Order: sequence, then structure tokens, then C-alpha cells
Amino acid sequence: HSIENGNFSWSSPSNIALVKYWGKKESQIPANPSVSFTLNNCKTITKLAFAKKINTGNFSFNLLFEGKPKEDFKPKIQKFLERIEIYLPFLKDYHFTINTENTFPHSSGIASSASGMAALAMNLMSLEKALNPEMTEDYFYQKASFLARLGSGSACRSIKGKVVVWGNHKNIQGSSELFGVEFPNAIHENFKNFQDTILLVDKGTKQVSSSLGHNLMNGHPFAERRFEQAHENLDKLISIFESGNLEEFITIVESEALTLHAMMMTSIPYFILMKPNTLEIINAIWKFRNETKIPVCFTLDAGANVHVLYPQNVKVNVLQFIKDELVGYCQNGQYICDEIGMGSIDN
Ligand code: PMV
Repeated sequence: HSIENGNFSWSSPSNIALVKYWGKKESQIPANPSVSFTLNNCKTITKLAFAKKINTGNFSFNLLFEGKPKEDFKPKIQKFLERIEIYLPFLKDYHFTINTENTFPHSSGIASSASGMAALAMNLMSLEKALNPEMTEDYFYQKASFLARLGSGSACRSIKGKVVVWGNHKNIQGSSELFGVEFPNAIHENFKNFQDTILLVDKGTKQVSSSLGHNLMNGHPFAERRFEQAHENLDKLISIFESGNLEEFITIVESEALTLHAMMMTSIPYFILMKPNTLEIINAIWKFRNETKIPVCFTLDAGANVHVLYPQNVKVNVLQFIKDELVGYCQNGQYICDEIGMGSIDN
């Protein structure tokens, strides 16, 4: 098969982990399984133009971010292409123009690596599918997730499905450490259109890159127990997704967030990635929840921003609370309203 030129466009969402991926083995194999909600509004939109060229043994691509050349992303893309070349042997036969943009403000502290790598993987898989039209849809999405994982681990959870599991778990059929799979069981109504309001506490660049962070789990004094705990927490979430028990959901999710940060505080070197306002927000959420009994909770990524999670039916109350009491803790009063989404979209 031969295709001279053309273009594709995909948008891929960010995702928010409930059970956190923190620690990895060789080849982006996670040390423990994780599960995330796929987001809907925080997305990377990537257009890939390709044109056949003579294979000179090198990758050839230019990179545009919001329409302008972006040199500093190139090494990351180059490394990604090198890693996936054995799985996509046509890569050096084309010149690529990768044109990418995010729907969320840059340097918002929201990692764009998951959505960005997912969107690029989807585009490259579209080319692979064009060259091999007989491929099944399942294979297409599975391999896209497999490739995205090699770009950024958590990116493999931004391909397809509302709730995505990555990593082997004995009670999740089809789970794999090589790619993300959609959570296979039915999910309780309480989680339908679940909301995630992201409070931007600190928009500075990341203090700790996630690759450095994952490495800190090698030889970490609590690593083995932590990896077991992730299995246990995922097990508990399987029942919670079925029962819809929001109280138990909150306990697992908040504990996972604090454990992630506890791992960073107890590694060598150690880091505190929360800011004073992160703690102010957490305390305000606890107080609000105690007083109102509204099932709202927080989770954190490897940074200071807070994800506020709650069911759709309390949206009005929680947004009022956020406006009244939490916006003051956000940098420039900024926050982003998001909710569970479906995964990557071909556009
Ligand atoms: O995909 P990475 O290597 O950037 O790691 C992401 C790690 C966390 O966001 C902290 C947790 C997770 O599971 O998404």
C-alpha cells in the first residue's frame, strides 16, 4: 500500500486519575494499575499532515503550536517517534506537519502530555489504518492506547471510554499494563456526567517532571505497600462503581490524592507540591461537606491544582460554593469546569 499525502485531525481529552499511577518499570510499564475519568473540555486538538518522502533514515517533521513553530517540543516528539518506530514502520517514509493546540490555557499547570500524546497517537494510527484498511476498530483503539502509553504513561487512558483502567488487575477483565481499557462493567447512575472543576492554584511550570517523579518510587521505602494499596483501592472502586456509594468513593479518591503527595514527601529527594492555597481549598471542601452533606471531594495531580469532583445533581450548589469560597484561592481567580467525556474524537 502506498498513500502519497493527506491529513487527519483528532482531539483527545485530558483525564483525571482516581487511583494514581505513580512508579513505573522499563518501557513505560506501570508499577500499579490506575483508573481515571476521561475529561470532556480539556483537550488537545492535533492536525497531522503527511507527505511521502524518500526514506533517508531520519524522521522528518515540523511542529506548530497554535499555528506557530514550536522548537522546544521537538525533542519530546523525536523521542516518541524513535520509541514507536518498530510498531509503525512507515514513519520514516513521510514528512509530517504536526499542528497542535489545547483548549485550556497553556502554563495553567494542567498537564498537556496525556491529551497531546493521545491526539498524536490517534493521528498516527489513522495513517496506519489508511495503509492497512483491514484492521478492526478494537485493534485500532487498542494500538492507539499502546502507542500513547509510550509517549506519556497516563496518555493511554485518554483514548476511548469514560472510565479507563490501565494496568493488570485480577478483577478487571481484559486489563493490561500495555494499554488502557474501558472499565468493562456497568457504572452506577451517580457517576453519570460526573463533574470536575479544576481550580488553578499555581500555574507555574512543574517543579518535578513526572518521569523524575516515577523514578523516585524506585527504592522508595513505602513503594511495595503503596503498589499493593493501589490494587486494593481499585478493587474497592469496582464495587463502588456498581453500588454508587459516594461516601466510599470520596474516601478512596481523597486518600489516593494524599497518598500520591505523601509518596513525594517521603522520597529522596523529597518534594512538597501542594501550596498553602491547596490546603486552604482542601479544608474548605471538608468543612462544606461536613455542613451540607453534599458529596463533593478533591483529587490532585502531581502539582498544586485541585480537581473538585461531584455528581451532576449538586452542580448548582457546588459551583456557588466554589465561587463564594474557593475562587479566592485560585491564581487570578481561574478555574475550569469540566466533566466526564467519551475519549478521543475524529474531527
Ligand atoms: O503520565 P505521566 O508520566 O505524566 O504520569 C502521570 C501521573 C499522575 O498524573 C500523577 C497520576 C496519574 O495516574 O495520572
